[in-house]
Amino acid sequence: MRHLLNPLDFSVGEIEQLLDLASDIEKNPDRYAHVCDGKKIATLFYEPSTRTRLSFEAAMLNLGGSVLGFASADSSSAAKGESVSDTIRVISCFADICAMRHPKEGAPMVASTKSSIPVINAGDGGHQHPTQTLTDLMTIRSLKGRIDNLTVGLCGDLKFGRTVHSLINALVRYTGIRFVLISPPELRVPEYIREDVLESNHIEYREVENLDDAMPDLDILYMTRVQKERFFNEEDYIRMKDCYILDKKKMALAKEDMFVLHPLPRVNEIAVEVDEDPRAAYFKQVQYGVYVRMALIMTLLEVEKPC
Ligand code: CP
Repeated sequence: MRHLLNPLDFSVGEIEQLLDLASDIEKNPDRYAHVCDGKKIATLFYEPSTRTRLSFEAAMLNLGGSVLGFASADSSSAAKGESVSDTIRVISCFADICAMRHPKEGAPMVASTKSSIPVINAGDGGHQHPTQTLTDLMTIRSLKGRIDNLTVGLCGDLKFGRTVHSLINALVRYTGIRFVLISPPELRVPEYIREDVLESNHIEYREVENLDDAMPDLDILYMTRVQKERFFNEEDYIRMKDCYILDKKKMALAKEDMFVLHPLPRVNEIAVEVDEDPRAAYFKQVQYGVYVRMALIMTLLEVEKPC
């Protein structure tokens, strides 16, 4: 039995296989409509979510399975003090696989040690968000035709943004990836990412504050929201929340084949006027998230690809 706790739990080859399966699902959805008949996914969300929880649920329903779960800690027995370890032992009696989001870093990993069903990390605190990363990789591969040899700009809250940490971890395994890390000094990527991931893998990167200057170099721009829920001090959040706003004027500085991704939800960091630009890929990205999660559920449940 396998879990997905970190994007590095799958090798590059396994990710390629998973993305190939997700692409086949995109092209032939009817073929997969009953491959998980009788299977159940539990979505255990101790933190708010729209995309991740509902795309896991849509994914299992698209495969013919069923869903159960809770959407907040307050509506579960966590509110009475039940531990994650006990909860997962209980959920293992009800479901075949589970997706867990938790504000504490490492909570899904703790759950996996007590679980008799595959556990998927659907986001743990400011740490990792591996299924968002699989979604991001599928989006990049589908739009650019490759994941190698790209200059990727990551912009906004690089300190608390778990999607950024997971994506950097995953992309450093591909050839010719260069990063431009665009953030205010207070929201730089954590030191462990710079030292243990970027520098130890000899990855070319630069840290800048100015988005305009970076725009012409980028093949992918990955915008992120300033993560209000991870700030200790509201004044700091208010000071930094609008530090980057991508608008038409900035888009005019970019290559014609540059694409804008965003894990969403967006607040102010991408002006609505950018949505009309054919390079705005963040809503396509949401759709890819369903195919990727369908492929992931099949992979972890060891469901055969239909002929
Ligand atoms: N991208 C993402 O994790 O969105 P949700 O918080 O809505 O799940």
